[in-house]
Amino acid sequence: MFKINDNYLKLPGSYLFSTIAKKVSAYQAEHPDKQVIRLGIGDVTQPLAPAIIQALHGAVDEMADAATFHGYAPDLGYEFLRNAIAKNDYADRGCEIAADEIFVSDGAKCDSGNIQEIFSVDNKIAVCDPVYPVYVDTNVMAGRTGTYDPKTEVWSDVIYMPCTMANHFAPELPKETPDIIYLCFPNNPTGATITKAQLQEWVDYANRAGAVIIYDAAYEAYISEDDVPHSIYECAGARTCAIELKSFSKNAGFTGTRLGYTVIPKDLTCGGVTLHSLWARRHGTKYNGAPYIVQRAGEAVYSPEGKEQLKAQVAYYMNNAKTIKDGLKAAGYTVSGGVNAPYIWLKTPDRMSSWEFFDYLLERANVVGTPGSGFGPSGEGYFRLTAFGTYENTVAALERIKKM
Ligand SMILES: Cc1ncc(COP(=O)(O)O)c(C=O)c1O
Repeated sequence: MFKINDNYLKLPGSYLFSTIAKKVSAYQAEHPDKQVIRLGIGDVTQPLAPAIIQALHGAVDEMADAATFHGYAPDLGYEFLRNAIAKNDYADRGCEIAADEIFVSDGAKCDSGNIQEIFSVDNKIAVCDPVYPVYVDTNVMAGRTGTYDPKTEVWSDVIYMPCTMANHFAPELPKETPDIIYLCFPNNPTGATITKAQLQEWVDYANRAGAVIIYDAAYEAYISEDDVPHSIYECAGARTCAIELKSFSKNAGFTGTRLGYTVIPKDLTCGGVTLHSLWARRHGTKYNGAPYIVQRAGEAVYSPEGKEQLKAQVAYYMNNAKTIKDGLKAAGYTVSGGVNAPYIWLKTPDRMSSWEFFDYLLERANVVGTPGSGFGPSGEGYFRLTAFGTYENTVAALERIKKM
């Protein structure tokens, strides 16, 4: 008789965004005349930039000719893309990362979920609270998180690092020593960042404690302030304690095209074994490479035209962020984020719970956002709006919110 992985049964409810989608569908079925504006899920709305489209077309044409056709991609990624990443995202920022320390993938969600596989089930994880739900949920599936208390919404074997208004949404070093520390800056959902000096403290701590940091930099392109690091490898000592995850989804609109990468420096070892070798083995066994045409599109992100066009795209979303932030402030809300990230984090009014505010906003303004409590217990009483809508929808949503 087969047995299921009953760790899955421990997971509370469905994935946050599935729950939201169901609620919105039910509302729309009941009110077909209402125009709902979605500022909930962090999906982009602008089309792929012309330089990327051109690269895609060129690569598609190559696939039509036996002389230039590409079959299976190298599991770790094509050299042309790994070299472009190593130069632009690392060497140009003074970070020492070699092309063969970069593993190209189909996105940061898979990598952030799969990376835990190369660690023993005995490791204790620490997460910012609130945070992108994939880190905790995938550790639940692996059986690493203990038991769940539905009242407090806390797992017994997870170290939570609360990020609230009191600490400016920046985690403090945990009292109990973790083995694996997930950090995500600029942060989803709070939009907060930490300075290079603050990140250096984490790197020093991890090296002292023998912990590994999994650093999710999916929103790096939105950083506008000088003292905010774009990569954890800007910090001294990060090569011996940090894995970095990156995505092409938010900087270049690849949410539907799918591309990302993970960096594991060869200096990151445990008992003489490099984590690089484990991830290479995992990737080689379970993954057959991002499509050639998509990797060519990824290469175009680093071309001079691509860079210029994407700068404009990020600026477009950040103008939305400013519109939301200024509009909410004018309406009397307490808000943060939106300066180095496309997320605006607001305190729910009148002590409403996050889900109460979700329903209120959907019913009164026909605007969809994301309840903060979906990102962890310390997200209760907060709410996330994204800057990824169109400018017109963003302005319309704010008009409606102001009238509530
Ligand atoms: C922090 C964070 N990491 C990773 C991802 C997923 O990125 P990708 O589209 O590359 O899978 C998201 C998506 O919202 C995210 O917020």
